Amino acid sequence: MDKILVEGGYPLTGEVSISGAKNAALPILAACLLTEGVSLIHNVPSLRDIDTIKRIMGLLGVEFQQQGSSLAVNTGNVQHHVAPYELVKTMRASILLLGPLVAKLGKARISLPGGCAIGARPINLHLKALASMGANMYLDKGYINAKARRLKGIEIFLDIPTVTGTENIMMAATLAEGTTVIKNAAKEPEVQDLAEFLRSMGATISGDGTDTIIIEGGKELRATEHRVIPDRIEAGTFLIGAAMCAGDVTIKNCRPEHLTAVIEKVESAGARIRVHQDHITVQGPERIESVDIKTMPYPGFPTDLQAQFMAFMSVADGWSMIRETIFENRFIHVSELRRLGAEIEINGAQALVRGQKQLLAAPVMATDLRASACLVLAGLVARGGLTEIHRIYHLDRGYESLEKKFQRLGARIWREKA
Ligand code: EPZ
Repeated sequence: MDKILVEGGYPLTGEVSISGAKNAALPILAACLLTEGVSLIHNVPSLRDIDTIKRIMGLLGVEFQQQGSSLAVNTGNVQHHVAPYELVKTMRASILLLGPLVAKLGKARISLPGGCAIGARPINLHLKALASMGANMYLDKGYINAKARRLKGIEIFLDIPTVTGTENIMMAATLAEGTTVIKNAAKEPEVQDLAEFLRSMGATISGDGTDTIIIEGGKELRATEHRVIPDRIEAGTFLIGAAMCAGDVTIKNCRPEHLTAVIEKVESAGARIRVHQDHITVQGPERIESVDIKTMPYPGFPTDLQAQFMAFMSVADGWSMIRETIFENRFIHVSELRRLGAEIEINGAQALVRGQKQLLAAPVMATDLRASACLVLAGLVARGGLTEIHRIYHLDRGYESLEKKFQRLGARIWREKA
């Protein structure tokens, strides 16, 4: 297993280019199952999670041809409908295959994703919605088995604006009979990018980006071509990293309008940020102000940047309160940050961070995808030797060569065989 080593204390300068969004590419690849043909998807990031969904879709009979970050997806010969436990357990977003398979093939057998480090991650809202659309579902040996002759459109209110739940219902609704109205829908940019893709396949969808999405079902969909939006969480990770390291960085190929909440908080911490149409420039402050955050569904502060912002506040001047409202166990990175000298007190869903002058290099262990990014950021400012980050297979699930991108900005960071 690889590890990443970081020698902290170097300012970041220069330009970094953001890759395609993992959490948009995953549902868009799954949505290709809604038609037979060859769709061409551009700006697909090279990540472990993308490899995983390609492996599972390969088992269903889907063929792929990759050219750089463009991926041709051939769904002309999909014969199977089983997503096996061995693969699903490594990536819970495999549940995104459920809606398209039930809608297109009338059947699906998908391993229950199981929990993960940040929480139980139930999928009750996905299952409840598909059942109301007429899918007959039962659990057997840890697999969800779903069958449906023809799904029918429904009006549904989601107790929680679940992102992949909204996406699963949207995809299933495109082939259902009649109209589906999703209330309290997720508004994330990745949901909007999926809606864009479905419209380019011929679906009639409106309201994406608001809390009410309307899908007119029943049309035959066709293969299409689409460019995945940039990854706002990767962009936010570099925004915070540059602000932490007294950097002067231009973040290219991003969508600043997807990062409004994050930009506001990083500016409040003292960074100078200039927003342009497809790039952001950020100059880190000499002295970092402590800032409180509370994670919320989009357009609020994203939970996927909570750990990275905590690393930032660990070297701020003063106390900051970090509240996590989306997942019940998303403070696992705290114990690793404490190994680097951070002073953090957890009280339920709140973490009180007392900023330190500096962090101290030490070996640490990644526990989940975004916690890994948080430890890389902390390593960039930790002094007194090398910070070693172990189990970085978590990092490779969601970031394309993160250490190489930081290296190009002047960081002393590299990967070694552990
Ligand atoms: C998506 O996960 C993202 N993953 C997550 O990113 C992200 O953290 C999350 O949305 C929140 O923004 C992908 O898009 C592939 P949810 P998802 O359903 O859809 C509860 C990353 O690092 N819930 O919006 O699984 C759930 O437990 C990942 O890239 C139910 O109770 O998240 C959570 O507390 C991590 N029942 C809350 O809703 C359900 O049926 C939000 O979950 C579904 C969800």
